[in-house]
Amino acid sequence: MAADLYGDLVRTGLGRKVVSSLHLPNPVRLRRYAPQAPLIEGPVVVAGHGAAPLASPITSMLTSSAIDVLGEVPADGRVGAVVADLSAAEHPQDLESLRAVVSPALKGLATCGRVIVVGRPPQAASTAAQSAARQALEGITRSIGKELRRGATANLVLVAEGADANVDATIRFLLSGRSAFVSGQVVTVGDGQPSQPADWARPLAGRVAVVTGAARGIGASIAEVLARDGATVVAVDLPAAGDALASVANAVGGTALQVDVTAADAGRRIVDHATTRHGRLDIVVHNAGITRDKLLVNTDAARWHSVLDVNLMSILRMNEVILGDGGLRDGGHLVLVASVAGIAGNRGQTSYAASKAGVVGLTRALGSDPRLRDRGITVNAVAPGFIETEMTARIPLGTREAGRRLSSLQQGGLPVDVAETIAWLSQDVNAGVTGNVVRVCGQSLLGA
Ligand SMILES: NC(=O)c1ccc[n+]([C@@H]2O[C@H](COP(=O)([O-])OP(=O)(O)OC[C@H]3O[C@@H](n4cnc5c(N)ncnc54)[C@H](O)[C@@H]3O)[C@@H](O)[C@H]2O)c1
Repeated sequence: MAADLYGDLVRTGLGRKVVSSLHLPNPVRLRRYAPQAPLIEGPVVVAGHGAAPLASPITSMLTSSAIDVLGEVPADGRVGAVVADLSAAEHPQDLESLRAVVSPALKGLATCGRVIVVGRPPQAASTAAQSAARQALEGITRSIGKELRRGATANLVLVAEGADANVDATIRFLLSGRSAFVSGQVVTVGDGQPSQPADWARPLAGRVAVVTGAARGIGASIAEVLARDGATVVAVDLPAAGDALASVANAVGGTALQVDVTAADAGRRIVDHATTRHGRLDIVVHNAGITRDKLLVNTDAARWHSVLDVNLMSILRMNEVILGDGGLRDGGHLVLVASVAGIAGNRGQTSYAASKAGVVGLTRALGSDPRLRDRGITVNAVAPGFIETEMTARIPLGTREAGRRLSSLQQGGLPVDVAETIAWLSQDVNAGVTGNVVRVCGQSLLGA
C-alpha cells in the first residue's frame, strides 16, 4: 500500500497552516468503527416535514442507544448529526422544511458528523409534484455532501411505504464510523422480514460467510470484519496465493479453500466446503477481481476474456449452484464487488469497466428477482472508489494523487471501509435492502 504522504503532512502544525493559506485539500483522519464507541457522539437533531412518520421510530432507536436526540439545533449550535425526514413531502415547496432543518445544523456539525435525509422512492409517487419533490432529495443530498468538510458525510435513505420498521440498520450504519467513506449515496429500504441481532456488536454471530479473493487487499479485510462481527469465514483464493490465504483464514479463525473462481466446479466446491465443514451457508461475497488495463486499441481477445471471466462470468456460473437447492440458505445474503470504474468508465479499463458495470446489472436483476425475494435472499453490490491497496499503489503518482483528492472526503479509502459496508449488507436485520449498489468512494467526482 502506498503511503498518503500529503494526508500525513496536512495533519502536522505547519501543514495545517500551509493548507489553510493556500486553500488546498484538507483531509481529516476519518472516524472509523471501534468496539464500545457510541454510534455517534451526539446530539442528533431529528426533524422533518409535516407528520414526519419516520422521525419517531428513528428517535426511539437512537434514545435506546443512549444518544441524545433534539428536535432542533441547540443554542451552542453543536450537533453530531442531523436526520431530516422528508418522507411526507408532497410538493417541491415542502423542500423548504429540509432547508430549515439542515441549514442551521451545518455550521456546528461535528468533525466526521452526519447528514441523513429520509424520503420515499420517486418511482412510487402518486403525483408528478410528489415525484419531483422526492427526486429533488437526491440532488440536495449529493450537493450537501459536496459542501461538507472535515470528514462529514451526507446520504439519502429512501424508505418504501410500509417498510418504516426496516430502517434501523441503515440509519445505524450511516451514523456510525462503519460508513466513514460512504457519502452522496442513495440507499433504498423496502419490505422484508428483518430480524434484530441479539447483540448489535456481533450481528453475524452463528453465520457462515464465504469471501472470494480473500488472501489480500480488500478481501482479507472483508474476512476480518465479518469474523469480528461474529461470522465463521471461509476464505477463498487461488492455489498460488495459498500461504497468504492460510494466514488470513487462521487469523480470523475460519477455513481456507483454494479454488480458482473461474473453474467450472468452483460454485460446487464452495457450497460443499461451507456445508460439510461448517453446516450452513449464509453469506457469499464475490470479491475476487483482476485488472488487465490496456487501451481498447491494444486489447486482444485473451486479455479481454480473462477480465470478464474472473470479474463477471465466474459469478454467473457460481451463482447457479450458490443460489440453487442446498446452497445459500433462505434469508441469506449475496454481496458483489463492483467499482466506480464500471459506473464512470475509465481510460484503459474497457474490459474492467465492462465487467464491473455487468456486476451492477447482475445485482439489479437478482435484487428484483421474485424467486429470490420470496426466499428472503438479498443481493447488493458495493462499488469502491479509490481504495489504498496494492492495486492502487501501482497507479502512477500523479493519477494516484488525483484519485485521492478528487472526492468530497479528499482522501483514499481503506479496505476496511469497503469491508464495513459489506458487513452491513450481510446482516439479517437488513432484509429490506436488496438490489442496491452502494459506492464506497468518499463521494468521488468520478461518475458522480
Ligand atoms: N483497490 C481498489 O481501489 C478497488 C476499487 C474498485 C474495486 N475494487 C475491487 O475490489 C476487489 C478486491 O480488490 P483488491 O484491491 O483487494 O485487489 P487485489 O488484487 O489486492 O486482491 C484480489 C484477490 O483476488 C484473488 N483472485 C484473483 N483472481 C482470482 C481467481 N480467478 N480465483 C480466486 N481468486 C482470485 C487474488 O489472488 C487476490 O488475492 C476486486 O474485485 C476489485 O476489482 C478495488
